[in-house]
Amino acid sequence: MAFVRACGLSELEEDTPKRVELDGTPVSVVRTEGEVFAIHDICSHANVSLSEGEVEDCQIECWLHGSSFDLRTGKPSGLPATRPVPVYPVKIEGDDVLVSVTQES
Ligand code: FES
Repeated sequence: MAFVRACGLSELEEDTPKRVELDGTPVSVVRTEGEVFAIHDICSHANVSLSEGEVEDCQIECWLHGSSFDLRTGKPSGLPATRPVPVYPVKIEGDDVLVSVTQES
């Protein structure tokens, strides 16, 4: 599982998703509730960037139709999305946020 640097920890504002591209994969990095999560940036319902949505209760909301995805599991909490979005392992090393997109969990 190869971890690559996504961004600096100090660049992340609480509850403000940051979109990055890692090995060609769009990823939304989110700092919330004292943790950092990485979730695939494209909604499973349509081609919408999740990083443009709001974060609340460890979920990120798709702004288009309102499905929220759990940042820990990628599972949608309600319709219209029915399929989960991939989430990726995160490691923090100093100020570096490292994400592995090679193995989805
Ligand atoms: S595009 Fe995300 S819920 Fe429809």
